[in-house]
Amino acid sequence: MHILLVASAFNSLTQRVHAELRDRGHTVAVELALPGHSLAEAVRRHAPRLVLAPMLRTAVPREVWSAHTCLIVHPGPMGDRGPSSLDWAIHEEADLWGVTVLQADEEMDAGDVWASVPCPVPPVAKSDLYRGEVADAALEAVLCAVDRFATGTYRPLGQGGPEGVPVRVRPYLDQSVRRIDWAEDSTRTVVRKLRAADSQPGVLDELLGGEWYLHGGHAESELRGRPGELLATRAGAICRATTDGAVWIPELRARRLPGGPPTFKLPAVQALGEHLPALPEHTLPPLPEARDSTWTDIRYREDGDVGFLSFSFPGGAMSTEQCRRLLDAYREACARPTSVLVLGGERDFFSNGIHLNVIEAADDPGAESWANINAIDDLVEAVLTTTDRLVVSAVGGNAAAGGVMLALAADEVWCRSGAVLNPHYRLMGLYGSEYWTYTLPRRVGPAAAERLMREALPVSSASALRLGLVDRVVDCGPQDFAAETGALAARLAALPATASRIAAKKRDLDGQRSVAPPAAFRERELARMRRTFQDPDAPYHALRRAFVTKERPRHTPPHLGADPVAPPAPASSGARVTGTAQHGVPSDGDHWYQEG
Ligand code: COA
Repeated sequence: MHILLVASAFNSLTQRVHAELRDRGHTVAVELALPGHSLAEAVRRHAPRLVLAPMLRTAVPREVWSAHTCLIVHPGPMGDRGPSSLDWAIHEEADLWGVTVLQADEEMDAGDVWASVPCPVPPVAKSDLYRGEVADAALEAVLCAVDRFATGTYRPLGQGGPEGVPVRVRPYLDQSVRRIDWAEDSTRTVVRKLRAADSQPGVLDELLGGEWYLHGGHAESELRGRPGELLATRAGAICRATTDGAVWIPELRARRLPGGPPTFKLPAVQALGEHLPALPEHTLPPLPEARDSTWTDIRYREDGDVGFLSFSFPGGAMSTEQCRRLLDAYREACARPTSVLVLGGERDFFSNGIHLNVIEAADDPGAESWANINAIDDLVEAVLTTTDRLVVSAVGGNAAAGGVMLALAADEVWCRSGAVLNPHYRLMGLYGSEYWTYTLPRRVGPAAAERLMREALPVSSASALRLGLVDRVVDCGPQDFAAETGALAARLAALPATASRIAAKKRDLDGQRSVAPPAAFRERELARMRRTFQDPDAPYHALRRAFVTKERPRHTPPHLGADPVAPPAPASSGARVTGTAQHGVPSDGDHWYQEG
């Protein structure tokens, strides 16, 4: 079936819907709903059989829904209405939520229901929930609705009537409701408010005489102080006292002044800069033990012969400093007596490569880009050259650019079924590094590597498996991924073949070193990256700025609007067709859950 996706941005869910529909043999095009562009005209041009809106913040014009069946994905259970569904779900501590596919109608969220799927609400931030449980439920609902539509006979359920569900319309969740009262609010309340607003819009607050949006929030169990007082720093985050404890806040964004330049998120310590008073730095050891009582972005645990080094950086972005700390932890983990080391395994983003915000804020972004790319390359090199144990990348959430290549450096790549991979760089104007010229062709073959890079399209987990980009798809929910990978890793460590694989690994690497040393790949990649970083006119600098400041694209990027014919679905396995189109250039990060 020919399906047109209409979206406010080609965001994570739209990417996943696109990839998974094409996996099932549909032809799919995307049209971004942008100011100054007629949606009706675009729909006429595409002439789809079905219009589907995975993430649309504006109403579908009557002209469109009266001529075509238009299905809207609403991130709430049946009867829920309003623009801040997930925010309210977290704010009100719902433990069960859902996603409903509705037919577009005169009134927003009031149309007939084509499918509705429930999902749990674990204690995580909104964007994590959105990319995890909500995305899984949305896919199930979308695929069910598309199948029902394809029958030509299915009659969607009306929302009203005697058998209808109770309707609950909730307003936009604004800052007056989100506001933290530091003199009154407990840690639990503060964390809940921060989670409901993360990653966007954040909670607007006053701090050290300035106005800041607070992003992210994690309870601290030991540090105490006067409510509202800043207590400590750790890895770029600040710790602030509540009435009964304290919370760690990793990132801040300055409130934009009227007429002032756009602001963007930065690690809290960097954002506050000289305004920050002298505070104790509460560092953890390089290999922090996995425990819940305090916040750390890197954790380690061991279970028998298996080490688990997990990490979780906001937005999947890895700054120079974060790469270096992770490399230190990786080296420590490699000093432990394990035969399998699992890298990753947390929920949400695995990695999205170098930290474009930190680079943008640097005095010399070119120099910081260079430092960051070398720091991530050092980490990749350490993984690539580990010969005394098997390394497994456990990709629990989405990954892009250098973040995908970091995963590929391991001996095996395991990926959660709901993950979307973007194994390319060109939308950021980069040639790419992280040893991709070494690892990617080795995994998928030179032709597929070239195609992935050129097309710059996201890839579903099923397609990634079919391509050989990953070795295993772990079919589970986000909350179960760590336990599932733990069990698989224990089995891997117990296999008699594992010891011989480790021995063979060393021989192979020694053999490769004499033929085509990995270092030579890095050198060639970095020579091209350096030219880009040093050239102020290179598109990378403008693309990065636009990405960081969330500029809206002026039009639908051509590679999304095009309607490539989906390759035929192979008969075997659930993995059928390669994924599809990528982000507009650049992403405007426009989500349902963002403040306007
Ligand atoms: N540096 C800094 N921030 C990044 C980032 C990076 N490399 N990658 C993602 N983020 C942030 C986004 O700004 C966004 O922040 P927000 O939640 O505050 O809005 C958040 O992570 C999620 O990204 P978003 O673009 O909204 O998610 P998406 O699912 O729509 O798209 C990507 C995901 C990875 C395709 C897109 O973020 C992207 O293209 N990132 C850049 C990848 C890259 O070029 N890396 C550098 C080369 S190694």
